Amino acid sequence: MPNKSLLILGDIMCGIVGYIGPRKASPILLKCLKRLEYRGYDSAGMAVLNSSLDVIKDSGKIDEVDTKHDFSKLGGKIGIAHTRWATHGEPNMVNAHPHTACNGDLALVHNGIIENYSTLRDLLESEGHTFQTDTDTEVLAHLIEKFYTGNFMGAVSKALIKVRGTYGIAVIHRNHEEIIVARNGSPLIIGVKDDETFTASDASAILEHTKKMIYLEDKEIASIKAGKVTVKNLFDKKIDKEVEEIGWDLDQIEKGGFKHFMLKEIFEQPESLRNVMRGRIGKTIKLSVNGTLSDCRRIIIVACGTSWHSALIGRYLIESIAEIPTEVDYASEFRYREPLVGKNDLVVVISQSGETADTLAALKEAKKRGAKTMGIINVVGSTIAREADTGIYIHAGPEIGVASTKAYTNQLVALMLLALDLRQSNGKTLDSNIISEIRGLPEKVDHVLKQNKKIKAIADAVADHSNFLYLGRGINYPTALEGALKLKEISYIHAEGYPAAEMKHGPIALIDENMPIVFIANKGKGYDKIISNMEEVKARRGKIIAIATEGDMDIKRLADWVIRVPETMDEVSPVVNIIPLQLLAYYIADRKGLDVDKPRNLAKSVTVE
Ligand code: G6P
Repeated sequence: MPNKSLLILGDIMCGIVGYIGPRKASPILLKCLKRLEYRGYDSAGMAVLNSSLDVIKDSGKIDEVDTKHDFSKLGGKIGIAHTRWATHGEPNMVNAHPHTACNGDLALVHNGIIENYSTLRDLLESEGHTFQTDTDTEVLAHLIEKFYTGNFMGAVSKALIKVRGTYGIAVIHRNHEEIIVARNGSPLIIGVKDDETFTASDASAILEHTKKMIYLEDKEIASIKAGKVTVKNLFDKKIDKEVEEIGWDLDQIEKGGFKHFMLKEIFEQPESLRNVMRGRIGKTIKLSVNGTLSDCRRIIIVACGTSWHSALIGRYLIESIAEIPTEVDYASEFRYREPLVGKNDLVVVISQSGETADTLAALKEAKKRGAKTMGIINVVGSTIAREADTGIYIHAGPEIGVASTKAYTNQLVALMLLALDLRQSNGKTLDSNIISEIRGLPEKVDHVLKQNKKIKAIADAVADHSNFLYLGRGINYPTALEGALKLKEISYIHAEGYPAAEMKHGPIALIDENMPIVFIANKGKGYDKIISNMEEVKARRGKIIAIATEGDMDIKRLADWVIRVPETMDEVSPVVNIIPLQLLAYYIADRKGLDVDKPRNLAKSVTVE
């Protein structure tokens, strides 16, 4: 992990920039916005205050939107702009930011997720507000409009007090020569330079203009004028802020201070896990899936690659929690094997990108045969998301590293929520322990991430081996598969995952002192049996790396290296256990000097057969 002062993870969803000063705003905003392109986005937009308040926005790349609509025709010296990575509502022109309310007096850009947007929207609609978009963000624009009586900052504060969730926002109003910005859980930075002031969700956007930054903290709000910044809390109390000087280069900032996007994405997992749960988990589960799931008799999950490993874990979860028979298939096999599926089946397709050709074809095959279909997808509005009858978005944010990390753990939590939802739909009570274990995952993952130095030292010790074996049992057998996949994808070392009990039917022949074996050996259902497997490996002088529960002292007798993870219920343990395996693969590949984010021969999204 980089130096704490370097660690400035941007919002994992979207990008914000703003400018106020003596120069024309639109060319400055356009250039700043393009600095955020590396993060991934699907739409772009800008609002500039002149004699009127003008907005240009559309889906597509910044250059495409610019060519089509010409941002430079926006005159004026005060403006905000945004790159959107959809979470609520498809990527299209209407859903792109900035958003306006009913009378067109204000424009707003937002990063984050408003959890209680649907309650607020109902309330505002009952008071006569008309909504134009499918986004969670639009409620904020209408709330500010509702509270506005001449005090702009006061109205934004009142609106923010009403919302639950995360936000980084920038708002402009026709009657005010200022930008109001605020944050809660989504970063917002203010850049100061003489008579100009900038704002952004990510320092890389404005670094070419100034290195002098004010960092907003959660629940702080600021009025930005040309060369003047006033920061308050939401209850109008002034806060003194320091101006800090940034000392890093652009590349460091884009990666949040991490060496690679993959490492950044591994470290984003506590936050991305919070996003997949946001608004969906309480005493009951709230997934907005269309149609009833209670009449499904069998579930078939299809996927490719890492998503297929989530599917295998999904089978354990759905069978044990929802008590519905579940099968898993590779999408490429399912589509060509005349599958016997029909109207009582639910076919769940899992895909980070929502574009994988085999997964899409499997979905179409299932639909043709009359099954109900559901997508568990990261990219909102992707082809699979649109084709499936219903779905769950995993809200991991854009994943840039080719090897999937945060999308995988978010898929697992989405599957846990689905299993609980299916149980609930069938009128069965939910186990409150599982619910609290799921909610505790971000902290546990954070705890494992703090052991990165130790994991790096293990990686240094084993990086020169050319074969690895990963063994796990039960719900952590797929963890072994995923750990091995991570290693081979980015380090080009041959690695195999196996169910631990199968070791004696083949892989045991490979074991000698040159074979590191990674055991997922945390306390749980198969623990005693895993220990026996470790004994067998030890007897053949294999080198053991054990993922073990904190406080388990026995394991030290058998393992050459132990990585500790917090105690968890079996059902949620795959999320915690994969973290050290992601880090191990990363540090081995990095030590070998490889292009971790773009491994040879692999593609992020495989849209061909
Ligand atoms: C490619 C990627 C993998 C991914 C797989 C499935 O092979 O390199 O990381 O797991 O496709 O992609 P999907 O977008 O459908 O989850």
